[in-house]
Amino acid sequence: MKILGILASHQRNGINAQLLAEVMKNVNESCEQETIFLEDYKITPRKRGEKNLVLEELSEKLMQADVWVFAAPTYWRELSGVLKNFFDCMRPKFVYFKQNGDTIPGPFKNKHYLSLTSCYASKTENFITGVTDESFKTIDRVMSTAGVIKVGEIVLPGTFGMKELPENKKKICKKYGEKISNKIRKDDSTLKRYIQLFFMIAIMALLTMGIQAGLGSVVSMNNFWINYVSFTIIFFILLAIILHFVTFMKHRRR
Ligand SMILES: Cc1cc2nc3c(=O)[nH]c(=O)nc-3n(C[C@H](O)[C@H](O)[C@H](O)COP(=O)(O)O)c2cc1C
Repeated sequence: MKILGILASHQRNGINAQLLAEVMKNVNESCEQETIFLEDYKITPRKRGEKNLVLEELSEKLMQADVWVFAAPTYWRELSGVLKNFFDCMRPKFVYFKQNGDTIPGPFKNKHYLSLTSCYASKTENFITGVTDESFKTIDRVMSTAGVIKVGEIVLPGTFGMKELPENKKKICKKYGEKISNKIRKDDSTLKRYIQLFFMIAIMALLTMGIQAGLGSVVSMNNFWINYVSFTIIFFILLAIILHFVTFMKHRRR
């Protein structure tokens, strides 16, 4: 196993560098690891008919690693230009082009990645307004096009004046450092999603039947169609509420 840390901040020793170092520090000793600072490379797009040795070198590093850890600050509520430029220039390496210009995942398909970002905005502001959302979304969009699988993400808001990582973030970095050290299955969240779905449906059905039992004192539930229609409507409303809530909570970063 090899883990490649990719620092895409303007600062070599800033907060993202610390987050990345904290993850890498907790990578198992049996794994090989390397960290690169993208600003050390002159990353430009490949010109037609010319070789781009920097892109070749970086592509080789990506190929050698099983897991990539991207650490990129949020700038202007978006992904840092350093990482965006890297992604833009690496596009021909990340995907194969079909004759009609569509893309399919390239040679890095089924590798894994973890993303880290930070912002000045407070935890509460980030939770409500999603300051760091675009940073993660851009990484996710590029990686899913390249067929690279997400392991997780770490967000650190409230970095204004911060010199050292808070203890709770160090713990999360440790958790992910250990997680990426082990062979990760292609998509280890499928089973988890089915189990979550099962419990969601079980709870919704229970609540629906409970509400129907309550309504039974007002309307007779002995008629098949009244029973069926009321079940469907109540179940639908409850499911819509829970799905909205779960989606909202899941996509809010703190
Ligand atoms: C060009 C630039 C734009 C930034 N834009 C935002 C922003 O829109 N929202 C925010 O909360 N912080 C913003 N910040 C603050 C950075 O996200 C914050 O400094 C980050 O934690 C820096 O990480 P570093 O120490 O690795 O450089 C910006 C910083 C820079 C340099």
